[in-house]
Amino acid sequence: MANELFSHLRTFSEADWLAAVEELQSGIHAVDQDAVRIWFRFFPLELRLYLELAEDRKEAERVLSLQGDYMLEDSLDTSAHFLYGHRYWKSVKAAVNEEADGFKADSKPSLVDLIKAVGASAAKKAGVDQTLLNAISAVGLATFNQVGADEFRKTAGDTAKPTGAMTGSANSVAAAREKDDSQGLFGFLKTVDKKYSVKFASEGYSGSFQVYDDQEITQAAGQDRSRDWKSLDKRCWQGPIPIECTAAACGTCWVGVLGGKEKLDPVHRRERYNVKLQGYNQPEEERPYLRLACQARAHGNVTLVIPPWNGVFGKQIYKNVEELELEPATTSAKHLREMIAEGTHASQNKADIEDAPTD
Ligand code: FES
Repeated sequence: MANELFSHLRTFSEADWLAAVEELQSGIHAVDQDAVRIWFRFFPLELRLYLELAEDRKEAERVLSLQGDYMLEDSLDTSAHFLYGHRYWKSVKAAVNEEADGFKADSKPSLVDLIKAVGASAAKKAGVDQTLLNAISAVGLATFNQVGADEFRKTAGDTAKPTGAMTGSANSVAAAREKDDSQGLFGFLKTVDKKYSVKFASEGYSGSFQVYDDQEITQAAGQDRSRDWKSLDKRCWQGPIPIECTAAACGTCWVGVLGGKEKLDPVHRRERYNVKLQGYNQPEEERPYLRLACQARAHGNVTLVIPPWNGVFGKQIYKNVEELELEPATTSAKHLREMIAEGTHASQNKADIEDAPTD
């Protein structure tokens, strides 16, 4: 069914949404400032529109090497599980639906004004400060924009009770993400064997594993055999973080960094280059909140969120990358997947990956 709010929202581009999220940052609690930026990278509007317009949807998905659940319809009430404000999702959904019911197109409000209006209404319903609602309200309106009014109304917006690292006040959750594990009484004397914790959450599972100082995150994740990770996400060949190539080529291991991004190595040229080709909107910062986990070495505790899908779509969608070719992601990935299955350590075979820029 046509809806005036939906039609109005569809006049804004992905760049408009990202600019609105930046403009709103001072009105968002610190716990969700990067989280909301990450959400908008995990669910890019331009990819959604490209798939909606594709004549042959299946072929488009194949060309973009899409794997996993990339449509918001599949995770209407769970996609924002890593935002602190997700606990108020039901209030946000109700506020978005009310906005849709009363919306008059001739008012032409800006995205920022719309998000603030929904945030104020949801904060009143939830009885909490609006700084906890603005980020999740941006997600609410963006979800409405992607799935449409009818689909958005299909669920009541019930969410699971926060557990583990997401329990407690917003201040305590934000502060806990900044802390490092103690290295013991004489830890300050240690030069090797320092160990830290990597906390992770995806839509289906969460937990933590240990990482040695200067160890690649996916290498540390691969040593965690505490669960059958592949039964939880078929992209998880070794440990809880999805991987294929371990060489920056396939984009399977992309993650959002909710806490501790400054404790990861700076982005090297190879990661920067390949992330652009993959289509992930990684900020230009030296240590951004969007990383390839197989390229990031940890020097302290970090908190990660794992997206439910991956792909290689930079050239097709954004058309802003140099005319340089990657080896088709599926070729190198398939080869390395076979080696991983055989128990061969993938990092010994990085020489088999295509020539990409090195530092
Ligand atoms: S596993 Fe990291 S890019 Fe392929």
